[in-house]
Amino acid sequence: MSYLANADRYHSMQYRRCGKSGLKLPALSLGLWHNFGAIDDYEKCRKIIHAAFDNGITHFDLANNYGPPPGAAEETFGKIFRQDLKTYRDEIIVSSKAGFGMWPGPYGDWGSKKYLVASLDQSLKRMGLDYVDIFYHHRPDPNTPLEETMGALDLIVRQGKALYVGISNYSAEETQKAIEVLNSLGTPLLIHQAKYSMLVRWVEEGLLDVLDKNGVGCIAFSSLAQGILTNKYLNGIPADSRAASTRGNGALEKNGLTEKIINKVRGMNEIAQLRGQNMAQMALSWILKDQRMTSLIIGASKPDQVSDSIQCLKNYNFSPAELDSIENALK
Ligand SMILES: NC(=O)c1ccc[n+]([C@@H]2O[C@H](COP(=O)([O-])OP(=O)(O)OC[C@H]3O[C@@H](n4cnc5c(N)ncnc54)[C@H](OP(=O)(O)O)[C@@H]3O)[C@@H](O)[C@H]2O)c1
Repeated sequence: MSYLANADRYHSMQYRRCGKSGLKLPALSLGLWHNFGAIDDYEKCRKIIHAAFDNGITHFDLANNYGPPPGAAEETFGKIFRQDLKTYRDEIIVSSKAGFGMWPGPYGDWGSKKYLVASLDQSLKRMGLDYVDIFYHHRPDPNTPLEETMGALDLIVRQGKALYVGISNYSAEETQKAIEVLNSLGTPLLIHQAKYSMLVRWVEEGLLDVLDKNGVGCIAFSSLAQGILTNKYLNGIPADSRAASTRGNGALEKNGLTEKIINKVRGMNEIAQLRGQNMAQMALSWILKDQRMTSLIIGASKPDQVSDSIQCLKNYNFSPAELDSIENALK
């Protein structure tokens, strides 16, 4: 079946400016870390991408190592892109990253110029793209000078292989330094990609201030804590859930679902119901209440999860009393 995008796709999505750049991102983006590997059903992958684009999700987030096996998510995306999205290229923001181990030997990991340039070339081939919109350094490298890593990002932009650059998992202090180096090179930092959810709050302790002060955007990942911040684990572990899978590569495992965490989710689920939301929607709208957040990247194993999560945009304002109740439930 050929794909024709929903003509109404820009109707309900909200687009937020990324820092002080010219680029706007959808408040919800779609990530392909899991569910798009060689082990996943291709037609289902296609449907998830269609559900996203049909609802105004114009941003697809990848990395060299997403799969399994590493590289497979970029291949799946490339296939869907060629089959369905090619004519929409100028309506789509594709990001990829390098920073984790990809090939043997000293040049397949971390943050050298050698690794980053070669890895992006491989990613472009796998996806069948001439350029990515955003290229990230995936994690800080304590053993490579920051000037070299940021110099590689600058080079990649000058080569036309990426339009913008980002960093991920850098601390507030490392981010400030990266911003200064990139500014001196003339390729400003567009965005920081950070783990941020009701259960993981480190960005509130300095990173968001650094980004705001410097006009850099912020995009959150794992805002559902890989599914913990939904109501799916309140009565056990469903067979088709991530926690029941054995995907590896950092995927949620059963031992991540302690009684203590599930009890917190139970408390928050009640607050969500009072707000007319389900747990997943409240967890996502809680991130978007802060206007410093440009976007958040959802993951999805089914197309319906995309449509469900998008409903969070209907209510991302929280009263002080609701915020207090959430803090109490999290204690
Ligand atoms: N920069 C980095 O270091 C980094 C690290 C991790 C992730 N990321 C990015 O962030 C993206 C998202 O990460 P994530 O997969 O951890 O995100 P997440 O949104 O926290 O978790 C996604 C999982 O939550 C469940 N889910 C999603 N929507 C739901 C809904 N409406 N109702 C019930 N369950 C729902 C699904 O679990 P089931 O599979 O159980 O159905 C889905 O696979 C990644 O794909 C990647 O692009 C970046």
